[in-house]
Amino acid sequence: MPNPKTLISEEDIKARVEELAAQISLDYADKEEIVLVGVLKGSFIFLADLSRRLSIPRHIEFIAVSSYEHGSVRSGAVRLVMDVRRSIEGKHVLIVEDIVDTGHTLHYLIDMLKSRNPASIRTCTLLHKEHATEVDVKIDYLGFAIGDEWVVGYGLDYDEKDRTLPYIGVINPDD
Ligand code: PRP
Repeated sequence: MPNPKTLISEEDIKARVEELAAQISLDYADKEEIVLVGVLKGSFIFLADLSRRLSIPRHIEFIAVSSYEHGSVRSGAVRLVMDVRRSIEGKHVLIVEDIVDTGHTLHYLIDMLKSRNPASIRTCTLLHKEHATEVDVKIDYLGFAIGDEWVVGYGLDYDEKDRTLPYIGVINPDD
């Protein structure tokens, strides 16, 4: 199979990640520490690049969730598969996602983490499929808005393939 067509190049991702890191560093400059909560698996590359470009003290956590599916259709219900290891009570939390699609995952995570009384909670996603989003979720830091396409690379997969492509590509799963 040929490589997926480029939607967002490696250079454009790098430049945008630098901008996001600069903005986040500025916004949290007066805070003691920020807790980055990466949502596995898709966010692992974005989180690695973003966290290394921050100029503020940071602590890294991971969380994993799974969507319930009926056949190939997602029901919108989400369940926790792996929790963070440290209490977030009184902490400034930034949830880091690779993509917000329907929004159900982020909606669930914000509600769940908010109930643990963090000092603040914000969200950062590299990609947002604006027209596919079904629930209202607040995205504080956004890399790129994209159309309703199947995207892979930079952490995102199709059936576990193409996660480590250095750019965001578009595929047609029916090909
Ligand atoms: C993707 C992505 C988000 C979620 C977004 O994860 O990483 O967590 O879907 O979708 P939503 O907005 O419709 O809820 P996926 O379930 O593909 O798992 P993965 O990150 O492990 O590949």
